[in-house]
Amino acid sequence: MNEGLNKKILITGGAGFIGSHVVRLFVTKYPSYQIVNLDALTYAGNLENLKDIESAPNYTFVKGDITDGTFINELFKKYNFDGVIHLAAESHVDRSIEDPLAFVKTNVIGTMNLLNAAKDIWKNDYERKRFYHVSTDEVYGTLGESGLFTETTSYDPNSPYSASKASSDHFVRAYGETYGLPYVISNCSNNYGPNHFPEKLIPLFINNIIQKKSLPVYGDGNYTRDWLYVIDHARAIDLVFHRGGNHETYNIGGFNEWKNIDLVKTLCKLMDEKLDRKSGSSEELITYVKDRPGHDLRYAIDASKINKELGWKPSVTFEEGLAKTIDWYLENTAWLAQVTSGAYQDYYEKQYDVS
Ligand code: NAD
Ligand code: DAU
Repeated sequence: MNEGLNKKILITGGAGFIGSHVVRLFVTKYPSYQIVNLDALTYAGNLENLKDIESAPNYTFVKGDITDGTFINELFKKYNFDGVIHLAAESHVDRSIEDPLAFVKTNVIGTMNLLNAAKDIWKNDYERKRFYHVSTDEVYGTLGESGLFTETTSYDPNSPYSASKASSDHFVRAYGETYGLPYVISNCSNNYGPNHFPEKLIPLFINNIIQKKSLPVYGDGNYTRDWLYVIDHARAIDLVFHRGGNHETYNIGGFNEWKNIDLVKTLCKLMDEKLDRKSGSSEELITYVKDRPGHDLRYAIDASKINKELGWKPSVTFEEGLAKTIDWYLENTAWLAQVTSGAYQDYYEKQYDVS
């Protein structure tokens, strides 16, 4: 999909964490594109994330649900999109353990509705179109102490969330093989950065440290994740969308593995400095709690394909990214207060057994 021409691009889930960074990048970098952000505004979607670009002439927000097939067909007919960048999803593993069906509905049925609309409405014009499914490294299951996920690693998902993402990846591929739908998929490691909803490890712990609440580390804390700054993921999505090969998959990762407990201790140290608190005081908040069922031991990405073929690599070191992230949360306490009011409190009390 060449850059530079006028294009109508549908970005789904653009009010969420990663989606909002992708929308901002596309709206500002490609003024000739029309960017339509479709989002149902679930608990994870927040238009405050896009306040700075909401009046841009090339940006339109549509509130709607990808599980509604009739609505999706109408939207495709109305806009005649050239490309879709599909990020809308239920994205939190712990919630998928409590309510797996919600993940099937949005991540599988919702993706199917988009695929069906693209297949039917694009069918005589596949040459100029592209369906991009933004997926996760969790579809590969878990690694042991060594090894990396490559694009040819077999799918072996362990949580209802990763099973639903694996299923939607398979459907995207099947539509490519069966109907010739032009697609590209990327599977990315753990993101962190501004606007991350405080149910995920880094923003949850930043919020709890600010409030001097306990830091619930699952199990022994010796689980490993590969962390990537969200803006570097958005840069990779831009490259894959425009230059990735048709029917190709790209793994995206941070070259940045951390055991949870080491990351949490580093975060505590940085937060003590930023908040001018006594050294070691945040670490005292660490509490080991009941493990997550089916907890994957380790994720780590081999991102050499996207590096060699598209020239992508992370631009921000973990030290820089974490410092920027902490600063953002300290400067945006109103955002944090807004997203942690109401339903968040019920979720938190149930998830962490707070009475
Ligand atoms: P998020 O939970 O922050 O945002 C999801 C967005 O989708 C929200 O704005 C929500 O309102 C919207 N949404 C949910 N259900 C919808 C529906 N039925 N119809 C329309 N909109 C709906 O998620 P995120 O962390 O930004 O992740 C975005 C995508 O990237 C997901 O597909 C996720 O699987 C994938 N991903 C995330 C990570 C990560 O570390 N967060 C890593 C790799 C891949
Ligand atoms: O790998 C990519 C995936 O990363 C994305 O596809 C998911 O959408 C995203 O949520 C993320 O999944 P994880 O389960 O790895 O992220 P989470 O932040 O929930 O957890 C990171 C690690 O921290 C994991 O080992 C579980 C642990 N953890 C998490 C929470 C919320 C804790 O120890 N305590 C907690 O309270």
